[in-house]
Amino acid sequence: MATQISTSAGRDRFVGGALSRVDGPAKVTGLAKYAGEFSAENLAHGYVVSSTVAKGRITAIDVSAAEAVPGVLKVITHQNRPSVAGEAKAYQDMVAPPGLPFRPLYDETIVFSGQPVALVVAEEFETARHAASLVTVTYEEDTPQTDIAAIADEAYDPPKKRSGIKPPPKPWGDAGAAFDGAPIKLRQQYRIAHEHHNPMEPQASTVIVEDDGTYTVYDKIQGVANTQLYLTNAFGLKPEQVRCLSPYMGGGFGGALRPQYQLFLAMLAAQDLNRSVRVVLTRDQMWSFTYRPGAIQTVSLGTDGSGKLQAIRHDAVHGTSTYEDYQENIVNWSGILYACDNVELTYRLAKLDTPTPGDMRAPGAVTGIFALETAMDELACATGIDPIQLRLINYTETDPVEEKPFGSKALKSCFEQGAERFGWSKRSPEPRSMRDGRELVGWGMATGIWESLMMQSSARATLTADGRLEVGNSTADIGTGTYTILTQIAADALGLPMDHVTTKLGDTNLAQAPVAGGSWTAASSGTAVMKACRKVAEQAFKLARGMDGSPLANVDFERVVFANGRIEVAGDASRSVALTDVLKAAGKDKIEATESASPDKDFKKKYEAYTHSAVFAEVKIDEDLGIVRVTRVVSAIAAGKILNTKTARSQIMGAVVMGIGSALHEESVLDHRLGRFMNRNLGEYHVPAHADVHDIDVIFVEEEDKANPLGVKGVGEIGIVGTAAAIGNAIHHATGKRIRELPITVDKIL
Ligand code: MOS
Repeated sequence: MATQISTSAGRDRFVGGALSRVDGPAKVTGLAKYAGEFSAENLAHGYVVSSTVAKGRITAIDVSAAEAVPGVLKVITHQNRPSVAGEAKAYQDMVAPPGLPFRPLYDETIVFSGQPVALVVAEEFETARHAASLVTVTYEEDTPQTDIAAIADEAYDPPKKRSGIKPPPKPWGDAGAAFDGAPIKLRQQYRIAHEHHNPMEPQASTVIVEDDGTYTVYDKIQGVANTQLYLTNAFGLKPEQVRCLSPYMGGGFGGALRPQYQLFLAMLAAQDLNRSVRVVLTRDQMWSFTYRPGAIQTVSLGTDGSGKLQAIRHDAVHGTSTYEDYQENIVNWSGILYACDNVELTYRLAKLDTPTPGDMRAPGAVTGIFALETAMDELACATGIDPIQLRLINYTETDPVEEKPFGSKALKSCFEQGAERFGWSKRSPEPRSMRDGRELVGWGMATGIWESLMMQSSARATLTADGRLEVGNSTADIGTGTYTILTQIAADALGLPMDHVTTKLGDTNLAQAPVAGGSWTAASSGTAVMKACRKVAEQAFKLARGMDGSPLANVDFERVVFANGRIEVAGDASRSVALTDVLKAAGKDKIEATESASPDKDFKKKYEAYTHSAVFAEVKIDEDLGIVRVTRVVSAIAAGKILNTKTARSQIMGAVVMGIGSALHEESVLDHRLGRFMNRNLGEYHVPAHADVHDIDVIFVEEEDKANPLGVKGVGEIGIVGTAAAIGNAIHHATGKRIRELPITVDKIL
């Protein structure tokens, strides 16, 4: 029997399988508790009063009626708010863009509509809510500017770059001249709407004051290390004074990367009253912080009849707040996805009187790839070349920006397998040429790309005398399956059944880990867990070899496997020791290791790392009513090793649904006179409902990658990138109408 030594010490039995979520039962039975569900003795409740104007000053604020309500403990406004230690340094968090973060109730200045202007704290939530309605605020209003189109020419190159975001590369070749000289030219403007996060669970924080004066903080956050950092910065606390937890999340996807103002207000009130306090934002208040910024983009593509790109220009402008320079990568993809000798990419911001925008599932790529991949479809139509063929003509095996090969890039397989599954060869290229009864049928496709990232992360593994293993770190499972994949990795590493392994996440008392975002958690925390387990395995092996009459005497670590709770000589199961016996013989109640994993520097020197996808969409459109149904989506993904085909597939399906939302439904509508997002509820901010979602078929193409020992590149965000373009291209194919503005609503189709 061949020796099977995988990257971990055990055999891959669970890694790569289609396993159900280990946290599933807790989630569906209500055992899983969320930030706004934790309680404490004597818990007080805070309710936020929000500004109704977007810009100006508070000239008067009358809290007397609110204070008179029985059960109200305190009304905190800028007039009576205690100052905090971090005022001068502001309240930096791990993912804050350059600028001065928003300081709740700091002074009378209003910088966005929905800004918190008071916190009413009461014995009961309903009391606080009622009293909040009695607070009257008088404003001196200034005229807000929230229209990106109106001030696009005032846009500026961000003076300070946001950490982790590469500025556009220097142009190469001469894109202007090459475009002017190209026989076939396309230059179009593309727009996407502002989109707001609307997970089931709104932002919430529960701050519990412990008897020893320390705080236990439950926060809705994609990484409790960020909550802790924010609180230590803002309130001048030491890390050991604030334990932060976020064991479960009702959806993250970028909306909970940064601590939000309810956390600040809950801690402020807890300190002020020396009492535990919970603050939960309302659905309406979800429009008073982070959102995907609507953008105006211009893409110019030049080619001759061959389809080979001679020039690419991509310019993007989007809004940020007046106080921070939020940045994302919108245009760089246009330099990476295709080979072209003349490329010019530009990216600017404009100051709006809104809250700071923020990351939302594949930030930047969703925006930029919509424009680029719609433009490519337009070019396919202009040249008469099949859309897949056009992409193959311009395919690149190296990253043109960094001039380095990709560590892996199985995008060609995505095209092939996706096209095959979708039946692309049966497409008749002419728009309006396919029908199904009274419905027009359209088939469209697009490419997706996302970074494959890894962050430094640590993890702890503890094997106890009863043969059970606990692993974990402080990162979050944002609803993606992190608990499950880490359990699989750990179970395989020590040859244990899944139910002997417990994964703990979302607690600053656990090993340090970054926020969960950017689809980097599997690579980062997965590798750290694998390393910690391997360390435990090595220690267990040493102890086993030293046992009296050990069957493993004179055997090297490389020659054993961990299986069925035992360490056994590979290929000779008769020579084995149970892990429980190893600990017993050594007189130990546990073996523990904490290990840290970082990106492989040598790999990064040689290679660039991206995930790719080919998205195919079928739409059926009622010709008279303009109603679009996305009847089929095939998403073929190249993302390295897939740790769990079930949870990964669910992530891609979820991302495709989010892509359908951005293509057809999602739009936060601003009234520029009021400077306010108006549709602040799920009745008016439309997201795909069940009836909007039909067949979604996910293919994971084989791809070997060596960026990390697990071979994972990360899935999640890649599932949304390209989806809106594929749907838009299908709508063009069905109707002959090119709609360059998302969402594509009925009024634009008719
Ligand atoms: Mo990520 S922007 O947290 O989906």
